[in-house]
Amino acid sequence: MSRVAVIGGSGLLGQSLVAQSVNRGDKVLSTYQSRPFPMSGVENIRLNMSDPVEVQKVLRSFAPEFVILPAAMTNVDECERSPTKAWEINAEGPLNVAQTCKGLRVKLLYVSTDYVFNGLKGTEYYEFESPDPISVYGQTKLEGERCVMDADKHNLVCRVSVLYGWNSLKDNFVTWAIKELRQGKEINLFEDQWVSPTYAPHCAEVLLKLVRSDNKGILHTSGPDCMNRYEMGLAIAKEFKLDQKLVKAIKTKDGNLQARRPGRSCLCVDKAESLLQVSMLPFSEGLKQMRASEGHH
Ligand SMILES: NC(=O)c1ccc[n+]([C@@H]2O[C@H](COP(=O)([O-])OP(=O)(O)OC[C@H]3O[C@@H](n4cnc5c(N)ncnc54)[C@H](OP(=O)(O)O)[C@@H]3O)[C@@H](O)[C@H]2O)c1
Repeated sequence: MSRVAVIGGSGLLGQSLVAQSVNRGDKVLSTYQSRPFPMSGVENIRLNMSDPVEVQKVLRSFAPEFVILPAAMTNVDECERSPTKAWEINAEGPLNVAQTCKGLRVKLLYVSTDYVFNGLKGTEYYEFESPDPISVYGQTKLEGERCVMDADKHNLVCRVSVLYGWNSLKDNFVTWAIKELRQGKEINLFEDQWVSPTYAPHCAEVLLKLVRSDNKGILHTSGPDCMNRYEMGLAIAKEFKLDQKLVKAIKTKDGNLQARRPGRSCLCVDKAESLLQVSMLPFSEGLKQMRASEGHH
């Protein structure tokens, strides 16, 4: 049994991290900002990680052995509209958590994003390649990465891309697409935006292994595919037996986006796969698991 603190346990990835830790028999602290995700056997606490005093108080009193930090301001367009808020949450938040973890001599795993890259390379990014974020979200998450690695070189930064899975609190790309298609609505999806979709429950499994291992530094822990949003939409319609003709391809320039998106921010997962001896989960497989678990999550 370990003592695990999940900062942002109410989020999509956070919920899986918390649930799987509880199932392993760990003592779990889960924090939320606006609304908790209720789960038995979990200590739920409200925490604004932008407040260093609050972060210290909460983590010191729980005394974790590991801290996992999936919390962030994740709405990319909202970050562009409110850069000061994005900075406070995505950069100062991880700084506060990392400083406290350093003081407590506790390993920290920070969840980051493919949006630290500009997406111009044309193929998958490796961990050693230089980030060059093109949005406020990407810039602030990159600063979060730096704060975490500066605090202690044994910490981990795990980058993911387009997280998906069931979440009763908030829709994600896949649950939104399923809902729209089930209502017979057309969905317009970018055919010029390529990503590595990441199934939250499987990613959580990988992160919980990693945080207990001797691995450190930056790792790409997304799904293994490199596919565009339009292809994702077709795959969703196929798996959930919905009308593929409702899935329409559009270009990013025709979307009403506040923030710029990288064109192809796919991540190469070879390093994580070989270090952990696991295979990251393909999108087709994640969708199958979602269909099998609908209503039971
Ligand atoms: N979603 C994606 O497609 C995607 C893609 C690439 C990388 N990532 C990264 O993966 C991580 C997890 O993403 P997700 O989609 O699971 O996130 P999410 O569902 O949007 O959840 C975000 C979490 O952060 C918490 N939070 C927000 N502001 C906070 C603050 N000031 N202090 C403390 N906690 C705060 C939220 O609490 P409340 O919900 O209670 O407000 C929630 O628990 C993030 O770090 C994100 O940058 C996500």
